[in-house]
Amino acid sequence: MLVYLDCDPGIDDALALGYLLAHPAVDLALVGSVSGNTDADTAARNARDLLELFGRPDIPVAVGRTDFLTHPYAGGAPHVHGDNGIGGVELPRGSAAFAAGSAADELIALARARPGELHVLAIGPLTNLAVALEREPALAGLVADVVIMGGAALAPGNVTAAAEANIHNDPEAAAAVFAADWDVTIVPLDATMFQRFEQADLDALQAEGPRARALGRMLHTYYAFYRQHFGRPSSALHDPLAAAVLTGEAVVSSAARVPVVVDTSDGPGRGQTIAELRGRYRPVAPHHPDGVRIVFDIAEPFAPQLLARLLSL
Ligand code: BDR
Ligand code: CA
Repeated sequence: MLVYLDCDPGIDDALALGYLLAHPAVDLALVGSVSGNTDADTAARNARDLLELFGRPDIPVAVGRTDFLTHPYAGGAPHVHGDNGIGGVELPRGSAAFAAGSAADELIALARARPGELHVLAIGPLTNLAVALEREPALAGLVADVVIMGGAALAPGNVTAAAEANIHNDPEAAAAVFAADWDVTIVPLDATMFQRFEQADLDALQAEGPRARALGRMLHTYYAFYRQHFGRPSSALHDPLAAAVLTGEAVVSSAARVPVVVDTSDGPGRGQTIAELRGRYRPVAPHHPDGVRIVFDIAEPFAPQLLARLLSL
């Protein structure tokens, strides 16, 4: 499957990138950076250095814009992902040049070149996708589907009581992406908070070669943050779970397809994903053909699958 990855590495973004490269069915054609966990320039450098580490410097990286649609980037999440976005780990510098166009423009060019084939995986704020939709209104009809790590349907938020980080960073962009006429799946906190790496997973990565070891070193920072939530060194697997929903390796066992709107007000609900789930507790999950597919759960624990992929890098 032909994939465009839009990301803000980001420790779990690094895991997702490793997962995609390790998956034999994935043809990763382009990586775009976006501000979120860190600024878009740093995210692009991290993506390039990770691709070098993983032996794929041939995959182009396009830099996204630093600021969000209606407000400036304001410093990312160093308390979660470290000052450099990847847990303070210094990777050898990749030497590949960045793509000539912006992430949005390179996405449009790729979708035009391969109409109907491209699967879009967005694991950061949705700024680039919204810019691309604005520049090329036909984009929605050119891509196969869009899978997004983001939102909280029935679960609490992780940056405010109601909002998840990727959506909260750029709610206007998320609103535009959800409103567009394409097939969107979100993998929200409802699912991702329950798929976790534990100490044994980190130990297994640390015992492996330099690629897995680098990911293990990054995870120390992520584990330190998540300790306050889980009471032990551990981490949620947000972005890699979205990647595995895209590939189908994570088999979805509970989902609904419903209208979703994003709160773009300046009130306490800003960034909330408001899902029309009033039919959720009927025997058959609600299905609105034009809605956003919300993943609530998967059939098997994902951590063993992810670990096996990462150890094979
Ligand atoms: C999302 O926010 C970022 O911090 C992570 O990389 C993930 O994409 C989780 O809310
Ligand atoms: Ca991310």
